[in-house]
Amino acid sequence: MKLTVNGTVHDVDVAAEMPLLWVLRDTLGITDVKYGCGVAQCGACTVHVDGRAVRSCQVAAAEVEGRVTTIEGLGTPDGLHAVQVAWIDHQVAQCGYCQSGQIMQAAAFLDLTPDPTDTEIDDAMNGNLCRCGTYPRIRAAIKSAARALDRR
Ligand code: FES
Ligand code: FES
Repeated sequence: MKLTVNGTVHDVDVAAEMPLLWVLRDTLGITDVKYGCGVAQCGACTVHVDGRAVRSCQVAAAEVEGRVTTIEGLGTPDGLHAVQVAWIDHQVAQCGYCQSGQIMQAAAFLDLTPDPTDTEIDDAMNGNLCRCGTYPRIRAAIKSAARALDRR
């Protein structure tokens, strides 16, 4: 099958039911996407498919229609995505394990909800767990990113 990831088309020869997460990490060596639970409970594996946040442990690679983006491909040629900049400004990451999934979730959320309330942020990020408890910084960074995106 063909899989477009971060702008590159890959020919992959895997079982049709193999989850996208495994194809990304084990077949293509794209390890910025993380394996957390494997059962849709943590959000560590979140990537975008045509801009929509998807739990890559839950979708078979053969079912993916559209362009896959992992955090490596989130920025633009001009630099980091506004969410990544805000994450740095707020020093969100602790151990970092959950953070690529958090950022991908947040970026897709802000595309749909450019001026979110606290409740909307909490609802949107509810499925992305952080064992280090960075939730207050995540919320602050999302608000900063929303303001930055609004100024463009
Ligand atoms: S690894 Fe996919 S949701 Fe946890
Ligand atoms: S930063 Fe450690 S799990 Fe989230």
